[in-house]
Amino acid sequence: MSQVYSVAVVVGSLRKASFNRKVALALAQLAPSNLQLKIVEIGDLPLYNEDIDLDPPAAYKAFREQIRNSDAVLFVTPEYNRSVPGVLKNAIDVGSRPYGQSAWSGKPGAVISVSPGAVGGFGANHHLRQSLVFLDVPCMQQPEAYIGGAASLFDENGKLSEKVQPFLQTFIDKYASWVERHKG
Ligand SMILES: Cc1cc2nc3c(=O)[nH]c(=O)nc-3n(C[C@H](O)[C@H](O)[C@H](O)COP(=O)(O)O)c2cc1C
Repeated sequence: MSQVYSVAVVVGSLRKASFNRKVALALAQLAPSNLQLKIVEIGDLPLYNEDIDLDPPAAYKAFREQIRNSDAVLFVTPEYNRSVPGVLKNAIDVGSRPYGQSAWSGKPGAVISVSPGAVGGFGANHHLRQSLVFLDVPCMQQPEAYIGGAASLFDENGKLSEKVQPFLQTFIDKYASWVERHKG
């Protein structure tokens, strides 16, 4: 049997009815059997502050531990004002410290942005990639995933649209290969 890789999924929205969270859950269903996706919650992380990190809060420690214990990281995010939502940037900053002990380092990553707008969160997607370069996260280049028209991705029963399902399947299959390539 091939190795199973754990993937920490970080969703950049705290909204209950978040389209991004729905897409993250759909990806968990579509993932091949060698990837196990699990959403790591970021809503309770105190705003990053180097002073409080001298004696790190339990939430910081638990978050860093969950990222460290994962083989890979997948970001599913909306775009806020053409960039990354503050809550996601905060999580990235928390995971990156203490200096020299970043939890992100070397974890094969991928980014998918989801928006009701037509541009599909391109700005957020690429601002996030900029941080991932610095954090030494090898980030899958292709397929790029800018998902627009999010309001019509799911029907009233929460079923994923057949229009987008094949793309998400391709995305997660390619990501599984990406993880295998870096961790196998
Ligand atoms: C503060 C704020 C800024 C936003 N800026 C953008 C933006 O730059 N581009 C965009 O496509 N949508 C923008 N939106 C709309 C979000 O894409 C929309 O609220 C989306 O549903 C959020 O993702 P979620 O459904 O996962 O919560 C913004 C929303 C908020 C609250």
